[in-house]
Amino acid sequence: MLNYYKLDEWNIVEENFSADNNEISESVFSLGNGYMGQRANFEEEYSGPSLQGNYIAGVYYPDKTKVGWWKNGYPEYFAKVLNSTNWIGINIKINGVSLDLAKCFVKDFKRVLNMQEGYMLRSFKALLTNGNEVEVTSKRFISMHRSEIGVIKYSIRPLNFKGELEIIPYLDGNVMNSDSNYDEKFWDEISSEVKPYEGYVMLKTKKLDFQICTNMIYEITKNGKLIKPIVSLNQSEKYVANTSLVKCNQNDEVIIYKYVANTSSRYYDPSELIDVTKKLSRIAKEDGYELLLKEQSDAWRKKWKESDIVIEGDVSAQQGIRFNIFQLNQTYTGEDYRLNIGPKGFTGEKYGGSTYWDTEAYCIPFYLSTSDQKVSRNLLLYRYKQLDKAIENASKLGFTGGAALYPMVTMNGEECHNEWEITFEEIHRNGAIAYAIYNYVNYTGDKSCLGEFSFEVLTAISRFWAQRATFSKVKNKYVILGVTGPNEYENNVNNNWYTNKLACWTLDYTIEVIDYLRENEPERLNELKEKLNFKDDEIITWKNIIQNMYYPRDVDLGIFLQQEGYMDKEQILVKDLDKKHMPLNQRWSWDRILRSCFIKQADVLQGIYLFEKEYDISTIKRNFDFYEPRTVHESSLSPCIHTILAAKIGNYDKAYEMYLRASRLDLDNYNNDTLDGCHITSMAGTWMAVVHGFGGLRVLDNKLILNPFIPEHWSSLSFKIMFRGALLNIKFTTNKFIIQNETNVPINISVYKNDYYLNGNDILEVKIP
Ligand code: BGC
Repeated sequence: MLNYYKLDEWNIVEENFSADNNEISESVFSLGNGYMGQRANFEEEYSGPSLQGNYIAGVYYPDKTKVGWWKNGYPEYFAKVLNSTNWIGINIKINGVSLDLAKCFVKDFKRVLNMQEGYMLRSFKALLTNGNEVEVTSKRFISMHRSEIGVIKYSIRPLNFKGELEIIPYLDGNVMNSDSNYDEKFWDEISSEVKPYEGYVMLKTKKLDFQICTNMIYEITKNGKLIKPIVSLNQSEKYVANTSLVKCNQNDEVIIYKYVANTSSRYYDPSELIDVTKKLSRIAKEDGYELLLKEQSDAWRKKWKESDIVIEGDVSAQQGIRFNIFQLNQTYTGEDYRLNIGPKGFTGEKYGGSTYWDTEAYCIPFYLSTSDQKVSRNLLLYRYKQLDKAIENASKLGFTGGAALYPMVTMNGEECHNEWEITFEEIHRNGAIAYAIYNYVNYTGDKSCLGEFSFEVLTAISRFWAQRATFSKVKNKYVILGVTGPNEYENNVNNNWYTNKLACWTLDYTIEVIDYLRENEPERLNELKEKLNFKDDEIITWKNIIQNMYYPRDVDLGIFLQQEGYMDKEQILVKDLDKKHMPLNQRWSWDRILRSCFIKQADVLQGIYLFEKEYDISTIKRNFDFYEPRTVHESSLSPCIHTILAAKIGNYDKAYEMYLRASRLDLDNYNNDTLDGCHITSMAGTWMAVVHGFGGLRVLDNKLILNPFIPEHWSSLSFKIMFRGALLNIKFTTNKFIIQNETNVPINISVYKNDYYLNGNDILEVKIP
């Protein structure tokens, strides 16, 4: 797949029709607007390999758990974001023969994802088995401006014949999740209706009673003039369609404009869904395609103004980073605190569309710097609203007194993951949620969340750590036993350095927050203490744990040890491993992986990344030089952390190598799994790799700090940063940097250890010696 898509700064371009790569392209060219999204399926029938996928954020199904050996504490279900009504469908018959790219000779195929303006374009010529040749162009987008609306302009031109086109726009709710545990269909029809040029399908989930309604309205033009051919109506369970017969001559252009509204009971009362949906699609049709398209490009212009990264001198890197930013903005817009970011967003079904620690550890930094702060605040609020469930989850596992264990995978706060070594043991996720609160406060300076809701989350997580850490008489230290760190290629280990570190950091930060509240919001603190039944003795226990925690180290090597006993393993480097063994997770048995020293993703290094300011450069370097060569990066979340640390220690070649791997992961199908969907959460990691890695951005003591380096063959790197009300356009070239304050909010900034003050709308230009 390397170099399959054409290099272009603003577009992803596929220039050949390849049935083999089609499912990969369906993921890559996905569209979304935070509220809904879809894979880049074809409008017309396609009998080749394809995963038809349309998803509405937050509409999920509790699919009954399937495991070999049931363990007490496993969840009853795995929540899956639901594949819902296929609304793009427009089947075409040409003189009686179906247009199906799997069954005709395809020429001049092109699929373009226009990231600047937010649409997908597809064009091709197809020679059918009856000898008729047509030219087709379709342009489709999901409106960023009107969250429920999707629009298609589909044009057909007969190239060598005159005759009859059958045009069949339809809605189809007969869809299934590809990963349904028991091959069940999850939807029932409530009602449907079809009329000429219009139709709706309303469905409800078999469990939980989510209701969704989809309404289509379409019109047809021939050579630019609206026509009203007679239509026949088709209707069956969960399916409505029109068939319009259009007579045309060679070279006539017939265009179908299809306007669709998708609504759900998450935002409307079920009794009004049908009316609202019809109304929304009617308004869309009345406003017309051109206006909707303009709104779309305006909305994307605004997004890019706030989040673009420009890399001059390296189109491949430029395309990679824009693709990542585009997909992130398509996945989550942050208006609704009940929504979150699934590892595959709307681009596929793997991981169920649920929330992982990825959000806190990887996505929050992206949204903090590129969106209004309420977006990240909503992500914090999401976890707060699920605190009761996290407490319930911990109590199922035997924890008491308001201790919370947030789930590894969740939709509504309940745990969905069902592998004991992760569900029960990968508890570092709890720490990531606490760290995100710190990250938010540190970045925005907004401490109001602490008293309002974050203190409750921190206390509940701290209570969990205080119970999960136990005292070892042998070591005369606190230990945390039986865990899985971020490196999932080690299970049930004792004293994972990262987990122990994060646990103590959480306790310490919670104490700091208590001190802050005591000083600044004493009444609120008292209220909260009462609500949580919080006794100051807890602080004494926490301090004791912090002071007496056991941290595994190798004194001779001067490194933190990933876990106790790690050095007992045979030490082999990835470079000395025959390539035929890679990827390990596909080639080796699980026990062989567990016995080996190979590391799936940053683990000790994840901790060093989070707590970087505690370590000097030589400590970071020693740990990096030890762990990176043992890391196989078989999680997409791995390379970005390595880019950042490599940049920090001045290993620029490594930083660049890791960056490329992260930024083009899906475009180049590095891990051979893009057909399952794109790696959305790791895309935020890629952004971090550029801005925190190459840009060296940090926030310390309320100040924005930059320490950039530019990879050798880049002539410049520019990125946008929102910080405390200011929007900055920051550009580094090899001999100067320019910072433009695009707002009237003044700002302090430190670049290469020099302090600068920028007034509103100032431009600072400094030569780099
Ligand atoms: C990683 C986890 C991650 C999950 C979802 C796994 O492969 O090891 O850290 O949370 O993918 O992205």
